Amino acid sequence: MLEKLKQRWKVNTLNLILIIATFALGGSLCGYAGRKILQLTNIDKGFLYILLYIILITLLWPICVLIISVPLGQFSFFRRYIKRIADRTSRRSAKKINIAIFASGAGSNAKKIIEHFSSPGKVKIALVVCNKPGAGVLDIAAQANIPSIVIEKNAFADGDAVLAQLKNYHIDFIVLAGFLLKVPEQLIKAFPKKIVNIHPALLPKYGGKGMYGHYVHESVIANKDVESGITIHFADEVYDHGEIILQARCPVDPNDTAATLAQKIHVLEHAHYATEIDKLLR
Ligand code: GRF
Repeated sequence: MLEKLKQRWKVNTLNLILIIATFALGGSLCGYAGRKILQLTNIDKGFLYILLYIILITLLWPICVLIISVPLGQFSFFRRYIKRIADRTSRRSAKKINIAIFASGAGSNAKKIIEHFSSPGKVKIALVVCNKPGAGVLDIAAQANIPSIVIEKNAFADGDAVLAQLKNYHIDFIVLAGFLLKVPEQLIKAFPKKIVNIHPALLPKYGGKGMYGHYVHESVIANKDVESGITIHFADEVYDHGEIILQARCPVDPNDTAATLAQKIHVLEHAHYATEIDKLLR
């Protein structure tokens, strides 16, 4: 372990010993200073005391370590070390989450999601991926100034091409919104629990290959189901299968057709998909 630390910090044995001593002495000094400051306030040793103590030692630690590092000759190491921690923390809190929306059709769900995340914030719709030239979703992306790519079935199934594009756009999260191709295993592995899908029925009913759009609603009506709904779920290697995030329901009336049921389902989708994604990312 010590050898690993020496390599990681690029120091020799003597420096490593001095660095560890600085950590230990700096930590003790910081704890001592924290207790002394709190003594001046006369606060009882309860929850508030502990809370203030934690805040104080967090603030005092870099100062104490830097002070101790001077006599031990390790000031430049610790200055760089503390700067690295500060940089990493601020980068982490400022990092945007880039979403790619995958869609094959009209894109009404994609549109709602784009609108939901349109004001500047932590989440950005950075890319639209489509497998159908001329699909409505491509116009929606263009109107919102979101880059889009069209990738044909075989290239998509291979996985490499789309993975490279996702990397180009620094994509962190994928939203399937009416995307008809099966997501290749490679992509599922590269984005574990970071791909969500919406299905226009109450899974596990009416899911799987070939169960999309009007086929789903026709089956629901043919089976005389009295309710249908939507399922938002994580995508895995199997069609319409991953862990369910949310289901919402609507009644199926005796006079419903596939078209009227599709309208009810779209209302549910538009009400829930974007907000559910937002919740997941927070
Ligand atoms: C939605 O009903 C969704 O559940 C399904 O495909 C449809 C896409 O509709 N996966 P749109 O293109 O978003 O209007």
